[in-house]
Amino acid sequence: LLARTEAELAAAADLRALDAVRVAVLGKSGSLTALLKGLGTVPAEQRKDRGAALNRLKGAIEAALDARRVVLDAAALDARLAAERMDVTLPPRPFAAGTAAEGGIHPIARTMEELTALFGAMGFAVAEGPDIESDWHNFGALNIPDHHPARQDHDTFYLPEANGRRPVLRTHTSPVQIRTMITQAPPIRVIVPGRTYRADHDATHSPMFHQVEGLVIDRGITLGHLKGCLVDFLRAFFGISDLPVRFRSSYFPFTEPSMEVDIGWSRKTGELGQGGDWLEILGSGMVHPKVLANCGIDPREWQGFAFGMGIERITMLKHGIPDLRPFYEADIRWLRHYASSP
Ligand code: PHE
Repeated sequence: LLARTEAELAAAADLRALDAVRVAVLGKSGSLTALLKGLGTVPAEQRKDRGAALNRLKGAIEAALDARRVVLDAAALDARLAAERMDVTLPPRPFAAGTAAEGGIHPIARTMEELTALFGAMGFAVAEGPDIESDWHNFGALNIPDHHPARQDHDTFYLPEANGRRPVLRTHTSPVQIRTMITQAPPIRVIVPGRTYRADHDATHSPMFHQVEGLVIDRGITLGHLKGCLVDFLRAFFGISDLPVRFRSSYFPFTEPSMEVDIGWSRKTGELGQGGDWLEILGSGMVHPKVLANCGIDPREWQGFAFGMGIERITMLKHGIPDLRPFYEADIRWLRHYASSP
């Protein structure tokens, strides 16, 4: 049996043939398995010797299988390397007209442009801030003191301490609310698109992602202004004039009252605007008086609202993009599919 198996193994040209030999010998109805099963019928005085012999045989066959597998594995790898060989010295192929040769706008950049245009029409300017933030801008000034439970939700990336302070990668675009209110006198109307960071990674979370913040500070601003602004924006952005929008009371340390905003969609088909289900899309609220005061703005004279949302999220919903990860992989096929012409 050993000699025959060895001959069969030598003839096995690939891993699949190798597996067929393995099954024929060691499988449930394999030849060696049958011999082992037959042990019970061998006279008791011979059984011990025969059992030991069969076990040795089994060991030898397994060793032969392993040895052949190593050879075939290596051959399979060589074949793959040869088949996928790339000549990196070749000149690039000419691009087909209308594709990558002309470049395209990445969907994140496109959404940022759309946000800038839509809010621009409502009188908003664009503000920016640094990705590396002080703890005070990212948390303290936003009414999130040390040890506040909200800090735990943020999976913060802390940077090495310098001058007794520990900077962070901003966990949201809200610190730019603070920077804007400190440097600009009200009335204020800005959106803040930008990169944000949280130590979180799976199919729907990336350690780096994008948010857009909105901030309005003026006299006599009410919840009504917040609702009107966001309903108009959401309907315009998704291009659905009767998109259902729901305001749900919530909590953020830097707004009071706070509201999460849901839009109508169908959980079953993923279609927006109908279906009777709700999808959370952004956080918002009236700027907390303490936050205004932290920035030197008198809350008795000025009021405002703020909101924040994930750019990847609204982009995925608008264009039916199922997975977050390809946003950052620069895969030319994905880009050709989702990027828009300039
Ligand atoms: N910064 C909040 C977040 O990242 C969103 C938010 C912004 C909520 C502004 C209210 C007002 O979850």
